[in-house]
Amino acid sequence: MSTQLEINENLIKYLQDVGYRKDAIVDELEKETKALGNVAKMQIAKEQGQFLEIIVKTSKAKSCLEIGRFTGLSTLYMARGLPSDGKIFTVDNSDEFLQLAQKYWEKDGLTSKIKSIIGSGTDVMQSLIDRQHSFDLIFIDADKNNYPNYYELSLSLLPPNGIIIIDNMLWHGDVADTSINDSQTKTIRDLNKKINSDDRIEFSLLPLSDGLSFIRKK
Ligand SMILES: C[S@@+](CC[C@H](N)C(=O)[O-])C[C@H]1O[C@@H](n2cnc3c(N)ncnc32)[C@H](O)[C@@H]1O
Repeated sequence: MSTQLEINENLIKYLQDVGYRKDAIVDELEKETKALGNVAKMQIAKEQGQFLEIIVKTSKAKSCLEIGRFTGLSTLYMARGLPSDGKIFTVDNSDEFLQLAQKYWEKDGLTSKIKSIIGSGTDVMQSLIDRQHSFDLIFIDADKNNYPNYYELSLSLLPPNGIIIIDNMLWHGDVADTSINDSQTKTIRDLNKKINSDDRIEFSLLPLSDGLSFIRKK
């Protein structure tokens, strides 16, 4: 039988300390985001950011799409992974934290690789499909009730071999607790099931931070 880890507080701290390589710009962006208060919990974990950068690099993606920008940490990591002529479109329905994100993208010399779009994720994705856009990699980290729509729209925006990465797919562990049945938990639980039996894709569900689903379109 394979060994299965229990991810306790101690191990989480270890992952945050040793599984993350210190980075001054990332630390400063995290600090400024924390100072915003409760909303800061929306930010991806830095270990997840490192993972996104490596995947963008190793997959040789040149065009990425992100749904859910917030203060721009995931955008920053993915843009770092792109070649100098690569581009990431990042979509958010609010411009509230855009200036803060842009400050750090600029500090890191990434501005030319990032195109920010303000709008609803599903509308923007549909209009990209209508204009026959396509992307090598799509990262989904916005409103959970739209996750099934983002998943389907992503499949239309990717060529074969394209990648989808979806955050929060273990939803604080709630997906595994059948007594929890609020709409967000149910949506994520149903989507995990759908992904599991979807012949159009191959996938791996990774317990990195709040859970990342890593999907390859066949
Ligand atoms: C979890 S945060 C994204 C965190 C970001 N990836 C990061 O690393 O900091 C989710 C974001 O999705 C945005 N959002 C919520 N509903 C949306 C929608 N329907 N369309 C587009 N963006 C949406 C929110 O404004 C919020 O900034």
